[in-house]
This record gives sequence, C-alpha cells and structure tokens, in this order.
Amino acid sequence: MRTFRDLSQLRARVRDWKEAGQSVGVVPTMGALHAGHLSLVQAARAASDRVIVTLFVNPKQFDKPEDLAKYPRTEEADAKLLQPMGVDVLFTPDPAAIYPPGFATRVTVAGLPDVLCGAHRPGHFDGVATVVTKLLLMTGADAAFFGEKDWQQLQIIRRLVLDLNIPCRVVPCTTVREPDGLALSSRNARLSPGDRLAAPTLHREMAKAAAAMAGGMASDKALSAARAAILRAGFSEIDYLEVRAGDTLAPLEGPAPGAHLFAAAWIGGVRLIDNIGL
Ligand code: PAF
Repeated sequence: MRTFRDLSQLRARVRDWKEAGQSVGVVPTMGALHAGHLSLVQAARAASDRVIVTLFVNPKQFDKPEDLAKYPRTEEADAKLLQPMGVDVLFTPDPAAIYPPGFATRVTVAGLPDVLCGAHRPGHFDGVATVVTKLLLMTGADAAFFGEKDWQQLQIIRRLVLDLNIPCRVVPCTTVREPDGLALSSRNARLSPGDRLAAPTLHREMAKAAAAMAGGMASDKALSAARAAILRAGFSEIDYLEVRAGDTLAPLEGPAPGAHLFAAAWIGGVRLIDNIGL
C-alpha cells in the first residue's frame, strides 16, 4: 500500500491503472477506522482491480468547531488496519490540497438535506457533497463504496453523482453491527461504559417498533412506545424517530415498500444514528 498526499501522485497512479484497463474502487473515509469501514474496503476489493482509500477529516462537514477539534486523528493505526486488506493507495491529502486559498465552490443537493440529520446539522450535507464530489473527481474511481448506516448521506451522494454525470457507480454496503445490535460508528468510542451498555436500546426499540408496525400497530403508537423506552434507557434526547421513503426521504404514515425507520438520539453527549428497512 502506498500513501500519497499529493493529487499529482494519485492521478499518475490512476492513469497507469486505467491505461492497463484496470477498474478502480474508492472508499472515502475520515479515518478512525473500524470494522464498518473495513467491510467497505472488502466490498471494494471484491469488485475492483485497484482500491483507493481516502482519509480526510473534512472541516466543511462539521457544524460545530469543537466536534472538528475532537475528531480522532489516527492515521498510523488506520494505515496498519488497511495494510493487510489489499488496498493499493491510501490518499491522505492536506486540507490545503482539498480547499486551496480562495476556494469558493459549494455543492448543494436540494431537498434531501432538509430533513432528518440535515435539519439538525446546518451545512453538514453541503460539506459532505462538496468533498465527496471532489474525491470522486480526484480519484477518477469507477465505483465508490458507502455504508448504509449513513442512509441520508448515501441518497445525497447518489443524487449528486446522477445530477453531475460523475462516471462512478455508488455502491451501498450493509450496516455492520456489534453483536448486541449497535451500529458501528467512530462515535461509539466516546461512549462511557454505562452508556455503551444502554446504546443498543436504540436499535432494539427501532426493531421492535418496526415489527409492531408490520403486525398492524398504528405507527404513532409504535413510535411513541419506542421513544419512551429509548429515553428510559438513558438517552437524553431524540432528534428524530420517523418513517420515511428510503429514496426521496419523504415522510410516510407507516410501513410501505422501500420505507425506512430513521433515528438520531443523544446519549452521554454522543449523537447516535441508525436506520432500518421496514
Ligand atoms: O461518511 C464519512 O465518513 C464522510 O461523511 C465522508 C463520506 C468520508 C465524507 O467526508
């Protein structure tokens, strides 16, 4: 695995691969890698001749400066995890390479970012859309791999790739969970031992509500029971617990083909998100 910081190095390597007729997969990350990221790398490895992992802590997607400051930077450990996985290039650009002085462009997808996490994190998805557009153009990847845990992000990226005719296939990858159901996230490392024990309640109650709705219970009843149980377990606040269409994210009254149940909730100052198909 080679580590490149310069775009010119990356471009030269990708040009050689493309001249040799090889396909390129990319896994964009912000580092602090866990088994969820590694499953994306495995999917990229299985589907592509060459694999690039990008590691860039994107300042433009943090709505709070303290969150950017707190974000773990673990490049050495990340590189060690990637080394045995058949990754060809780890691309770790400096912020100035991504956002040079005078940078004045923003990619905004209309509509999709207005709800769910976007409604609680102003500007977050513009930051994601801008950096992902740049990373896809920089790497020239034929396919890009994203986790379904960040479902809203995935839909926004699908939309921008279509709208901007970026010649890259967006490949969704199943959420990886701990044995107790908690979705893997770099934020889980910030949970206290007690909160870590309580955290799987979020997914458990979502699954219970989904089963109750599938069994015919009215969605408002199923969701209010889930809300109460999540708060009882020690979560301090629920940003949302809503049924929406998986593609357009339009609100739905209850289960329907393609519907998802989405949640974001706070425990011990850590915001966890999850979603399940209904
Ligand atoms: O999901 C993430 O880790 C980030 O939002 C991404 C896609 C790497 C963009 O910075």
